[in-house]
Amino acid sequence: LITIKSIFRDKEKYIGKEITVGGWVRSVRDSKTFGFVVLNDGSFFETLQIVYSDSLGNFQEISRLNIGASILVRGQLVGTPGMKQPFEVQAVQIDVEGESAPDYPLQKKRHTLEYLRTISHLRPRTNTFQAVFRVRSLCAYAIHKFFMERDFVYVHTPLITGSDCEGAGEMFRVTTLDAKNAPLDEDGRVDYRQDFFGKETNLTVSGQLNGEAFAMAFRNIYTFGPTFRAENSNTTRHAAEFWMIEPEMAFADLKDDMMLAESMLKYVIRYVMENAPEEMNFFNSFVDKGLIERLNGVLESDFAHVTYTQAVELLEKNNDMFTYKVCWGCDLQTEHERYLTENIFKRPVFVTDYPKEIKAFYMKMNPDNKTVAAMDCLVPGIGEIMGGSQREDNLDRLLARMEELKLNREDYGFYLDLRKYGSARHAGFGLGFERMIMYLTGMSNIRDVIPFPRTVNNCEL
Ligand code: 4AD
Ligand code: MG
Repeated sequence: LITIKSIFRDKEKYIGKEITVGGWVRSVRDSKTFGFVVLNDGSFFETLQIVYSDSLGNFQEISRLNIGASILVRGQLVGTPGMKQPFEVQAVQIDVEGESAPDYPLQKKRHTLEYLRTISHLRPRTNTFQAVFRVRSLCAYAIHKFFMERDFVYVHTPLITGSDCEGAGEMFRVTTLDAKNAPLDEDGRVDYRQDFFGKETNLTVSGQLNGEAFAMAFRNIYTFGPTFRAENSNTTRHAAEFWMIEPEMAFADLKDDMMLAESMLKYVIRYVMENAPEEMNFFNSFVDKGLIERLNGVLESDFAHVTYTQAVELLEKNNDMFTYKVCWGCDLQTEHERYLTENIFKRPVFVTDYPKEIKAFYMKMNPDNKTVAAMDCLVPGIGEIMGGSQREDNLDRLLARMEELKLNREDYGFYLDLRKYGSARHAGFGLGFERMIMYLTGMSNIRDVIPFPRTVNNCEL
């Protein structure tokens, strides 16, 4: 059994030879004595045309096949010069592996993405989703390749944790207690001391804090795994379960962090453009005209840099355009992020040095005592794609900040130890994997770049 991809990649080797392929029927057309099957096997973006004739004993069975049926085809690959496809298979034998019922939900017409979301188990059989998920797979590989080539150690951080890395309280609780009969504590609240772990636990929102522990041992590390957020924001760029890549570097500051972020993003763009040209052309033609030109532009230029304070000044001049008005101290909304990157800088931009109030507790305080050494990377079409910072490596300053935020010291004992035993300057960032796939494909809804999306009110399959 060979793949359609290898036929396309090595046609000289296979033309004139007998081959066997297996796949799913995209369409069947038949006349009295012969017919055509268009076959897709998922290995490649292109389909393969099969010609069959009534010399096959099961000619009628094949002609009656519905879209979606799976078949095994043995036959000769013949060149078809001048045709849309450079070759076809003249079938000697076709075995039906699995028929498809006539109510197969994917018919030979364009389905809306909204409809396809209701059948996330079948949508990977469509052109759009074959392209999206192949690019997703390549992207994951490119990220590992990027970090491995630079000797970063890949760390698996836990998914169940007792801490809230971002301090935003947007966590999914993990518990074995039964809500109705849960034991109560002295104050009448659920007593998690009697729960499985003997304390309150939740699904992680970020692997960063554990990642920092490994950076203080291996210098350069990265995580790449699922993270969870119970944000009640029903937008096209928020998922409750998403994948995050979090590098962390010891003996590095915010500048080093941004350099790493920029070269990683460019590396992945280049890798995908080189290794999935068919898919990228498809997106460029059917999803987002101008995508390839835009990505090429990103490769050729440097990312822009602007401080939060400068960004706010630029945005304030356009306040009449925004639903939420901008002022110093406010968190930037998607509309502001997109305006900066799409209208002002027209390329990816790092916004740095945010007010400490709108950022997490672990970020390194700047000498002004008002802002922190943070960066968000914003890209056109999406807004924030990465967020990172230099970390507070001074024990006393970290403790003071935690006190201000009323964080429980006991919950962060291990994190404080890292500042006690050989603390070093260090920095890292988090890249939202799905947002990067959106950026690379031009797909505009996060639900369409993750195989089985989990969002507010949606946990199907
Ligand atoms: O900016 P965030 O919250 O940063 C952190 O979690 C840090 N601990 C990262 C670090 O410094 N190691 O999240 C990082 C990125 C965002 O820029 C965004 O791309 C993505 O994660 N992200 C989401 N993606 C999809 N759905 C959500 N609900 C997301 N929340 C964040
Ligand atoms: Mg962020």
